[in-house]
Amino acid sequence: MIPTNSLRATQFDPATRSKISLGQTPSIRAEALSHYFGSGELRKQVLFENHLTVYPGEIIIMTGPSGSGKTTLLTLLGALRSVQQGNLEVLGQPLDGASPKAMEQFRRQVGFIFQAHNLFDSLNATQNVRMAIELCYPHRSAHEQTLAAEEILRAVGLENRLHHRPKQLSGGQKQRVAIARGLVHQPRLVLADEPTAALDELSGRTVVELLQKLAREKQTTIVIVTHDNRILDVADRILTLVDGSIRSDALVKEAAIITQMLAKCKVFERVTPRTLTRVADEFNIENYAPGDQIIRQGDPGDRFYLIRQGKVSVRKGNPEVQIAELAEGDFFGEMALLSGQPRNASVWAKESCLLYSLHKDRFHAALAETVSMEAEVREAYFDRQ
Ligand code: CMP
Repeated sequence: MIPTNSLRATQFDPATRSKISLGQTPSIRAEALSHYFGSGELRKQVLFENHLTVYPGEIIIMTGPSGSGKTTLLTLLGALRSVQQGNLEVLGQPLDGASPKAMEQFRRQVGFIFQAHNLFDSLNATQNVRMAIELCYPHRSAHEQTLAAEEILRAVGLENRLHHRPKQLSGGQKQRVAIARGLVHQPRLVLADEPTAALDELSGRTVVELLQKLAREKQTTIVIVTHDNRILDVADRILTLVDGSIRSDALVKEAAIITQMLAKCKVFERVTPRTLTRVADEFNIENYAPGDQIIRQGDPGDRFYLIRQGKVSVRKGNPEVQIAELAEGDFFGEMALLSGQPRNASVWAKESCLLYSLHKDRFHAALAETVSMEAEVREAYFDRQ
C-alpha cells in the first residue's frame, strides 16, 4: 500500500536523502528521559521516560496539546535546563550531569528560535542579528559580521528592513529577525518553538525552506515545536507528545498497521495484542535508497527491522552471495540482538525501502515482558540458522 498522506509520500520519496545511514552518530540521543516540576507534595512529573534518536540533517516536528511537555523537552535538548533523570547526549556531549559552564558552552552551538523575540529595542535588525555572531565568533571582523547578518536577513525576506529597529517592524518581521539571529552563526542544532506562528503563509514558507536548506547542505539537526499544519510537510519525522510521552515517533496512524504487521510475523505470533500495540508505538521510521546498505555483516546489532515497503537482499560471505530476499511484512536484524553476536549477514536495500526499526533496548524490553514472545523469537531464530 502506498502511503497517501503527503508526509509519508515525502518520506518514501527516494529522492529525499537516506539520512539514517549506518554508523552515523546521532545528534540527539535521549534514553529514559524524565522531568519533574515542583518539589515535595507538589512535585509533578511532566516527561515520562522518553527515548529519542535524531540524526544530523533530520528535521523533526514536535506537536501535541499544550502542557504535554514539548517546551520542556525542547529546553532540555538545548541545555536551557538541567537533566534530572535519564540520559541525554546532544551533539556528542552528555548533558546529564553537565556543569553550568559546560551547558553554557554547549548552548553556543545551538540556534534558538523562541516565540518571545527578546530583540534589543535600541539596536536595528542587522545589529540584533550580529550579536549572535559576536558571541560565537568574536575574532571575526566587524565588516564580516555585518555581511553575514545582512545575508541571513535577506534570506528571510527582510532585505528592506536591515536598518529598522524592532519598534518599526511588524510582529512577523520581528519574528523573522529572531529567526535570522537563531541561524546566523550556523549552529549544528536548531531548536525552534512555534517559529512560523506569527508569519503569513509566504514568510512561513521562506523560513521553513531556509531550515530545509540548512538541514540538507550543512547537516543541521532541526527540532521544531509547532501547531502550524502548513509546515508539516518539511518534517522527516513528526513526534507527538501526549501527557509527557513521545507517542509513536511519527507513526501515530501507522501504529495500527505496524501492529498488524507484527501480528503476522512468526516471532510475534503469540504476543498479546496489547503488547504488540505498545511495541508498535516504539518503532522509528527509516528510508533507504536502492543499493543502500542497512546492515553490515560483523557489526554489532543495534536495531530490529520490519519492512513496511520495498525489498531487501540478505547477503553473506566474501564475496557476498544472496541467501534470502525479504519483502513487505518480513523482519530482520533480530539474530544479533538475541545472540549478542555480531550481525551474521549483510542486508542491502534492493528497492526504495521504508523500514520500521526498534532500538535493541526496546526490543529486549518487549521480550522480557512476555515469556511466550521470547520463546517464539528464539524458535524463529534457530529456524533460520
Ligand atoms: P542479524 O544477524 O542481526 O543481522 C543480519 C540479519 O540477516 C539477521 O539478523 C537475520 O535477520 C537476517 N538473516 C540472516 N540469515 C538469514 C536467512 N537465512 N534468511 C533470512 N534472513 C536471514
